[in-house]
Amino acid sequence: MYNSTERQGYSSATFQAYEKARETTRPVTEQIVRQILKSTFEKSEWVLEIGSGIGELVGLLSERDRIRTMQSDILPELVAKIPFKTPKLIASTHSLPFRNNSVPAIASYSVLNAIINIEEAINEIGRVLKPAGFFTSFLDLQTIPEFVMTRFPDDILIPATMLIPKTNITVTDRLYMQVNRDTLKMELDLHEEELEPDIFKFLNDYIANPIPEWHAYQGNSDEAARLAHSQRIAQAISSLGIEAVFIDALEYFTTHLEKYVRNHGFNIKQSEMISGSGVIDRTEIKNPDKQNSYHTAMGAHWKTTDQNLGPDKIRLESTLFVFVAQKSSSTQ
Ligand SMILES: C[S@@+](CC[C@H](N)C(=O)[O-])C[C@H]1O[C@@H](n2cnc3c(N)ncnc32)[C@H](O)[C@@H]1O
Repeated sequence: MYNSTERQGYSSATFQAYEKARETTRPVTEQIVRQILKSTFEKSEWVLEIGSGIGELVGLLSERDRIRTMQSDILPELVAKIPFKTPKLIASTHSLPFRNNSVPAIASYSVLNAIINIEEAINEIGRVLKPAGFFTSFLDLQTIPEFVMTRFPDDILIPATMLIPKTNITVTDRLYMQVNRDTLKMELDLHEEELEPDIFKFLNDYIANPIPEWHAYQGNSDEAARLAHSQRIAQAISSLGIEAVFIDALEYFTTHLEKYVRNHGFNIKQSEMISGSGVIDRTEIKNPDKQNSYHTAMGAHWKTTDQNLGPDKIRLESTLFVFVAQKSSSTQ
């Protein structure tokens, strides 16, 4: 049902860290998710959930809606932990075990950032959905700020913090340098002799596998060394004659997603950040007196700004990227 490369895109350890991080935003996401999926449930007999993990999305639904869902994920050990008596499948979004035009609706929560090839998944979702069926995706993007670095085959995205570290730019500012992959590869080969060997190697390694290079960069606590390295990388890129285009990662992501779904026969019904707020116990927040202390890569965050609450409560705000696409009604 899945191959080893697809499986490498996600691990149980990553998932556990993520689970812990979003405990506090759950009351807010529940409201948003229920509201958005309301019309899907009204119009669809049942809903297939892809990348269900241990059942977060289905756990946010009312009992009535829950029993009309089916969960699927690539990792059997996660599916085994879903605590609801719903039908379950081990399946990859890259090859779903359904006939063409057979599934009434598909939903996912925090999955488009985890799958290896978003376009391939969209193609597969388009294949199995019934004409006029809905695909709804929620992303809170809390733990994988770098996912844009690996999910888009045409481009290399380098975090701006890695190139210009002396400014106050952070990963949460979503600023990345975008370079066409083929152009960068070609220029590197053409100019190998002119580049210092360690920089040539670094750029080649980054093209092949950006995440480990990024982690190594972040893990280096020697600030002076980091700065020197960054300056050399930035200089090398400019010496290759490549124009530095800086982009907003969320805009980049949504533009690509919208392009893929249009190319695969969908109409976009909604593509926006939706915020909500809820109240939770103060003890649930690690650092309750720090404003905005939990930022995420693409916008979800909580604040502790409500002065009207008692000392044991905190108001929390969170933002989800909500994407709803409808397959066109003709099958062709
Ligand atoms: C961030 S987790 C989210 C899980 C769950 N939806 C939630 O909100 O807790 C991403 C999930 O996508 C699954 N996944 C990654 N690649 C997949 C693929 N190609 N096909 C199906 N599921 C995949 C992972 O196993 C993981 O459970």
